[in-house]
Formats: sequence, structure tokens, C-alpha cells
Amino acid sequence: MNTGIKQSTLVNLEPDLKDLVKTSTQELNKEVNIKNVAVLTSGGDAPGMNAAIRAVVRAGLKMNWNMYGVYRGYHGLIKGEIKPVDARDVSNKLQQGGTFLMTARSSSFMSSEGQMRAYNMAKVFDLDALVVIGGDGSFRGALALSKLGLPVIGIPGTIDNDIACTEYTIGYDTAMNTAMEAIDKLKDTASSHERCSVIELMGRHAGYIALNVSIATGAEVVLLPESPLSMQEILKKILDMRNTGKNHYIVVVAEGAGSAIEVAQEIENITGISSRATVLGHLQRGGSPTLRDRLNASLMGVQAIEALAAKRFNRLVVMKNGLITDIDIEEGMQMTKEMNLSKIKAMQAINH
Ligand code: F6P
Repeated sequence: MNTGIKQSTLVNLEPDLKDLVKTSTQELNKEVNIKNVAVLTSGGDAPGMNAAIRAVVRAGLKMNWNMYGVYRGYHGLIKGEIKPVDARDVSNKLQQGGTFLMTARSSSFMSSEGQMRAYNMAKVFDLDALVVIGGDGSFRGALALSKLGLPVIGIPGTIDNDIACTEYTIGYDTAMNTAMEAIDKLKDTASSHERCSVIELMGRHAGYIALNVSIATGAEVVLLPESPLSMQEILKKILDMRNTGKNHYIVVVAEGAGSAIEVAQEIENITGISSRATVLGHLQRGGSPTLRDRLNASLMGVQAIEALAAKRFNRLVVMKNGLITDIDIEEGMQMTKEMNLSKIKAMQAINH
């Protein structure tokens, strides 16, 4: 019977996801002719995301593609919050922190049903490819969409720099500079009052922000998830320095390694040194991006469009040996990276 409805490319929400996953997505994807491309930001916002969106949109428009913005990350994709964006819509965004497309941590997208709903919505809007700017959780979502048959490109955007396959993530540089400036200020007051200032920095399970900022601010002690210290070791370091005449201290605590409030209390209780805790929190996520974040975000956005134009689908844009390139999404997500602990030794050599 002719129902007047053309044959659908939507996936059926009933069967198991595994039955729907196309085994030869790469082959299928090769046939895709790019015309309609959407971009979204997902997970925690990071300064420079706007610069990346702008670059994706403008470089895509140069290809004569129709460019779309998905609002509120995967949550918005499921809901169909998808609108065309033109060159003027991204004007004056380069220098702004946050993400004008807004972002979310979508719990419904975690399920295979949510992923199929998102895929279907992409088909409703006739999207040929999706650029996802976010962290590794966002990339897992992008990988799921690619398995359903939607070509994707991931751009690393998180202040934490905790994505194994890339040396750099968008927002990392600005967050470190924000933390550095805050600690410089805290140091002024700590030294005036002969205090110990304990500062908790973001980074989730990684201590990259904390370690680099500690070196750059001359912090005496840093607590990292990658290199934990006992309370006894922390106290001994501080007291050794006090015994050489030091009268103010900066202790940096990566959020994945402990609580600044607890550490400050212990230091004061046991040593009698007046101590104050500051949790920098979401301050580190805001602000106008640094040159480095604007530049890399712009180059990464262009790289994403170049990959799509060359039909290199299902890729992650990464920085490798200081250069921007793209790698297979599955391979990238299997990589692991280890912190260069020699930096801790360098810090111990100079900050005492
Ligand atoms: O991933 C970025 C980040 O800011 C982490 O450093 C932090 O642990 C987390 O996000 C905070 O998440 P939320 O914004 O959901 O509180």
C-alpha cells in the first residue's frame, strides 16, 4: 500500500543495538557525499570551544556545505535542537569563553536507545556528518554514532588535557593561566600573613593542570593523582622549609588527589602554621581563551573539515609532536598516556 511516506533511513528503536551496528561503516561512509554538517559541544565547557565552532562553521561554508549548530550537546541532538549557522552567526565569538552552542552532560545519550534517538534525529535533519567538540566521554558518544552509520569527527575540548591520544586539548592553556594568576594573588596574601595557602585545582582524575601550574607559580608542594603524597610527607616538606627560614607556602592539590580544605586543616592542626584553603573550581573553566587556545582551536576546526572533505571519516583531531593531524577514532580511544614525572623532580629541584 502506498502510504505517501518515502522509505525511511531511520533506525528502528526496538531491536538490539548490536543488530543495527553496521559492520562495514567505513565502506558505507565512503559513499557519503558531504553536504550538511553539524557541530556540537559536549561535556564541560572549555575556553576556545567558540573558536573551534567558528573555525568548523567557516571552513565548512568555504566548502559550500550547509552548516548546522546543535544546541546543548547530545541532549539537544536527541531533541532536534539543530539550526543552520552562517558565517555571521559565529562573528565576534573567537575571543569569548564558554560555548555559544551551550553544552550538557546528557544521561539519556549514555544508553543505546538514546544514541539511536540521536542518530535518527541526525537523519531527520539530513545530516551527513557531525563534528563533536568535547572530552573522552563525548568521543565515546561520537564513536557510538559512527557505528550506527553517521560519520563523525572529534575535536578535543576539555581543560583537563586528559585525552590520551593528543598532547593538547582546547581550554587547557587558558585554565592553567587562570589558575596561575589566582595563585600569584594568593601568594601575595600568604606571604604577608606568613601563611600556608592550599589551593585545589580542577583536572578530574588527571594532575596536568596542577603540576604545570605548581612549577609556574613556585608552589612548594603538589599533590597529584599520578604521584600521591602522604600527609606525613607533606608536613615534613613544609617543616623542613620552615627550618630554613621560609615563612609562607603554596600547596597545590589536584582535585583527583584530595581536598584542599582537609589538607589545610591538617597542616594548621599539626604544625600550627596558619593555613587557608581555596577551591578554585569553575573559575578555571571561564574567561577569554589565550592565544594558544584560540590558535589551536582554530587549526583543529579547519583540520576537522579537511578530514571530512577528504572522506577521512570517524577521526579524532589531535596534536602530535606539536602538529595538528587526525587519527582513527577507535585507535585514538584505545591509547593511554602517562604523565612525565620528571617534571616533579624538576619542581623539587627549584621550589623549596
Ligand atoms: O572536565 C572538566 C571539569 O571541569 C573537570 O576538571 C571537573 O572535574 C569537572 O569538569 C566538573 O564538572 P561539572 O562542571 O559537571 O561540575
